[in-house]
Amino acid sequence: MSGLTTLAPRPAPAPPQRVGGTRDLIRFPAGFLWGAATASHQVEGDNRHNDWWEFEQAGKLPHVSGDACRHYQRYESDFDLALSLGHNAHRLSIEWSRIEPQAGVWNDAELEHYVGVLTALRKRGIEPVVTLHHFTNPAWFASRGGWTKPDSVALFARYVEHVAQRLAGHVRFWLTINEPTVYVKHAYITGDWPPCRPHAWGLAGRALYHLCRAHVAAYRALHAIDANAVVGLAHSAPYIAACNPASLADRMAARMRDFVLNGLVFRLLGVPPASVLDFIGINYYVRQVVRARWSSGRAMLFGTECKEDHHGSRRTFTPMGWEIYAPGIRLVLQRFRRYGLPLMITENGVATTDEAARENYLRTHLQALGQAVEDGIPVLGYLYWTLMDNFEWAEGRSARFGLLEVDFATQTRRVRPAARVLSDACRANAIDRNATGAAMPGA
Ligand code: FCB
Repeated sequence: MSGLTTLAPRPAPAPPQRVGGTRDLIRFPAGFLWGAATASHQVEGDNRHNDWWEFEQAGKLPHVSGDACRHYQRYESDFDLALSLGHNAHRLSIEWSRIEPQAGVWNDAELEHYVGVLTALRKRGIEPVVTLHHFTNPAWFASRGGWTKPDSVALFARYVEHVAQRLAGHVRFWLTINEPTVYVKHAYITGDWPPCRPHAWGLAGRALYHLCRAHVAAYRALHAIDANAVVGLAHSAPYIAACNPASLADRMAARMRDFVLNGLVFRLLGVPPASVLDFIGINYYVRQVVRARWSSGRAMLFGTECKEDHHGSRRTFTPMGWEIYAPGIRLVLQRFRRYGLPLMITENGVATTDEAARENYLRTHLQALGQAVEDGIPVLGYLYWTLMDNFEWAEGRSARFGLLEVDFATQTRRVRPAARVLSDACRANAIDRNATGAAMPGA
C-alpha cells in the first residue's frame, strides 16, 4: 500500500474555463507537481568513484564531466532559481558511488549532504522526487560485472536500504532506476557508455533482467522502511507509430518495437506492475516511425526508423536526431494507462539554443499533456529535462536542454526566456489551450 492513497481519488479537472472571453485554460489537478529534473553525475561535479568518471579519465569517452555544474556546492542558489521560476517539485538523483565508494563501506557524510539538499528543497516548498540510480555505477560494482551479475540485485537493495533508513522522512516520491532500456542499450548494444560493450546481446538481456529484479527489491525495501513511500521507476517511453498504418508488416514491426522498448520492462517485473509500482515515471522525448524491414536477423524484428517527411506534415528533428512530436506525450500517456497506475512525466525536454523553438516545444507539449489530463489519465506531475545545461553524457556540454543557461567557464546561470512558459503553467496550474507563438501571459 503506498502513500498515494492520500492523493486518491484525484479530483477531476474542472471543465476548461474561458477567462476574459479569450483564453481557454486547461486546468491541472490540485497538487500537480511542476518542476525540472536533474541527475547527479550530470550536475554535481567531481563524482570520482563511479564508472563514468573512470572511463572519462581513461580517455574511453569523448567528454569529461569534471566539475559539471558544481551543483554539489551551489544547490541552494540553484534551488532559489527553481523557486523563482514557480517550481513546486524537483527531481534529483542520489549518487550511489558517493554513498558506497567501496563495497560495503559507507560514507555517511555524503548521506548528510543529501539530507542538506532535501532540506533545502523542503525549505522552499519544493517537493523532491528522488532517483536512486541514474546511469552511473560505483566503480567497484562495475568492475565486478555490474548489472550482468545476479548479485547486483542484492547489492543495489542493500544500498537502497541504507539510503532509505536515513532519507525516508525527507522523501515521499522515489524513482528506483532511471531508464533501464536506455542504460542497457548504450552499455551493451551500441556500447558508447560504460562498460562500452557493443553488440553484447546476452549481457544486455541479463542486465535488463537484473535491473527489473533490482527495482522489485528496492520497491519492497522502501516500503518496509516507509509504508507511505510512493515508489516508481523512470521509463524512457518513445511514441511508436507504423510508417504506413495500412501495411500489416509496418504495424507488426511497430508493435514489436513497442513491446521491446515499452512493454518488456513491465513484463520482466514478473508480477502485475501495480503490485510493485505505485506510479510510473514517463520520460517522453521522441516519436519513432517504424517501417518493416525485410532482412534476416534482429533488424527485422524492430523494423527500421523512417525519418522522411511523408506523413502529412513536415517533421522536425533536433540536432541529436530526435523527432519533436508534441501529440506523442498524450499518446504515450494513453498507452501506459493500461497498467492502471498514476503516471508522472519525469522527463521531457529539448536540446536547442533557439529559444523560440524551446518555447514552442514547451507550449505544445504542455497543451498535449493538458489534453491527456482531460482524457481522465491520472497524471501526477510534469518535470522538464532539465533545470540547467549540464554534462549530457556522450554529447558532453553541447546539448543545451536547460531552463537555465550555464556558462561553464564561470558557472554563472541565466534564466532562458522559454523558462517562462513553464513558470506560467506552474503558477496558474493551467495552460492556455489555444496559445500560439509567444509565452502565455501570466495567469
Ligand atoms: C534521458 C536521460 C537524462 C538525459 C536526457 C536528455 O535519457 O535520463 O539523463 O540525458 O535523456
